Amino acid sequence: MIDNRRGRTVAEANATQAGDPTRRDMLFLATGAMGAVGVAALAVPFVRQLAPNAQTVAAGAPIEVDLTPVAEGQGIKLFWRGKLVFVRHRTKAEIDEAAKVTVASLPDPQPDSARVKPGKEQFLVVYGICTHLGCVPMGTAPGEGRGDFNGWFCPCHGSHYDTAGRIRKGPAPKNLEIPPYAFLSDSKIRIG
Ligand code: FES
Repeated sequence: MIDNRRGRTVAEANATQAGDPTRRDMLFLATGAMGAVGVAALAVPFVRQLAPNAQTVAAGAPIEVDLTPVAEGQGIKLFWRGKLVFVRHRTKAEIDEAAKVTVASLPDPQPDSARVKPGKEQFLVVYGICTHLGCVPMGTAPGEGRGDFNGWFCPCHGSHYDTAGRIRKGPAPKNLEIPPYAFLSDSKIRIG
């Protein structure tokens, strides 16, 4: 059957729309990557130069991020392997707040020290994916609400995370996950 308006067969049209998930996913990743760069640029303009290009992101290669421009109290958003990643430069007050919590009282007990790298407690790196049903929590971009525990707030069903990204209130069962990463220098990390 011919779709006369476009000069293609219906089969061809369907293949383009639904039968080529690889191409569709690539387009989504590229779009998502560009969006991430844009968000990071809003928060910290210089980070835009350091963000990976769309091909690197789509390929799932490790990415290197210089955190020097991220001032205390600020955060950035990045994409790695199609997943949103938050990096926050925590203040001393935020670190102290996370450290003083009674770990056994937490829904997903984990000390702050297990969620950061030794000697680099000021930087918290987590996936920006709520562990309830996968929404994107607020609290990284300037002006976003951070919830009752000054970390992140997921507006979908009301999950509150603290300054270590640990679930404190709401339906999310687990803390925000931590991607594989390492420090290459005092302020540069490699994710992946
Ligand atoms: S998806 Fe975040 S609270 Fe439900």
